[in-house]
Amino acid sequence: MKLNQLLSAAMAAFALSGAVAGEVEVLHYWTSGGEAKSAAELRKMMQSKGHTWKDFAVAGGGGDNAMTVLKSRVVSGNPPSAAQIKGPAIQEWAAEGVLANLDAVAKAENWDASLPVVVANVMKYKGNYVAAPVNVHRVNWLWASPEVLKKAGVPAMPKTFDEFFAAADKIKAAGLIPVAHGGQNWQDFTTFESVVLGVGGAKFYQDALVKLDQKALNSDTMKKSLETFRKIKSYTDPAAPGRDWNLATAMVMQGKAGFQFMGDWAKGEFIAAGKVPGKDFLCAAAPGTANAFTFNVDSFAMYKLKDAGAQKAQADLAAAIMSPAFQEVFNLNKGSIPVRLGMKMDKFDDCAKLSSKDFVDTARTGGLVPSVAHGMAVSPAAEGAIKDAVSQFWNNDKISVADGMKNIAKAATTQ
Ligand code: BGC
Repeated sequence: MKLNQLLSAAMAAFALSGAVAGEVEVLHYWTSGGEAKSAAELRKMMQSKGHTWKDFAVAGGGGDNAMTVLKSRVVSGNPPSAAQIKGPAIQEWAAEGVLANLDAVAKAENWDASLPVVVANVMKYKGNYVAAPVNVHRVNWLWASPEVLKKAGVPAMPKTFDEFFAAADKIKAAGLIPVAHGGQNWQDFTTFESVVLGVGGAKFYQDALVKLDQKALNSDTMKKSLETFRKIKSYTDPAAPGRDWNLATAMVMQGKAGFQFMGDWAKGEFIAAGKVPGKDFLCAAAPGTANAFTFNVDSFAMYKLKDAGAQKAQADLAAAIMSPAFQEVFNLNKGSIPVRLGMKMDKFDDCAKLSSKDFVDTARTGGLVPSVAHGMAVSPAAEGAIKDAVSQFWNNDKISVADGMKNIAKAATTQ
């Protein structure tokens, strides 16, 4: 037999075996050290099933750049197989009629029984699964360098904002940077939502930032939140504008800065650099938020594609994402906890164990709230507008607290 005859015989045998391998083009924004290691686990799993992984990584923490690129690809009729989208944006994409129905995989793999109902609902459009969740990130964390705390004479992680500012003063006096911060609006809002939660509590957070209630947005509690938020800024360094979040994490890692307000993808950075929790870095709920949990669930939606190989690859990707093996290895790297229920946590560190416990506890007590900064709570249009108003306030000390509050309340009316 000639080579081409051999090849077609092999292909026929492959087709008869029922195995269809396909290419899966996956749009994501996991490009930092810890993120890239986590994404690689998914790539490996797909490659082990015989599929070709086409990496479509768009740099930019928080995913704003990725979402812009995604829109242009879908509008031009050339969507990727899967894209990392989440929260209400999933519903918006599904309403456009461009997402594939994942019910067959979800049924076969029993997703309804394996996911918290709140999460399953976000993954469904009109009762059908259109996205697969990978994890639960907690956003209301404070990270710290034990070395800096020691040098500055800070005895323990601050539990309240009074303790936090007292610690920040000591770090400043020791000649170090109290707060490592970066320069995108989602980083500002990550800090802001933790402050609102710490100052006002979970009910106020829900009213102001999730229900976008005008009374809450124009209240004394919001005023106090904005004052606290502005005060935090005075403890950041002048080079913060434009800095990526992982570079801010590196400042804590290198003992240059004391604290960072950031979700637990920061832990993924520490871990990727070989750092040990409790020894090389510390985690605690952001001041005043120990009884609350801002959740951020990463997920992948699949786009409607005609090619059978591509469809098979999509189904395999969805199944891989929800498999216990992937949920464990991915989340060990990513800093988050598995979204799949009933997973053993013995390989996870104390920060993840605390997160897992608090996720369950706060779901019972009402302290579990969606992160606005990370696309879980309000429509993308309202989210963008509020983020801009908050960042303008953060970046421009000339905007008074009263005006900042008015601007945010107005932005919240964006449809
Ligand atoms: C995502 C994380 C990601 C982080 C920084 C968040 O919105 O949920 O997965 O690591 O942004 O890029």
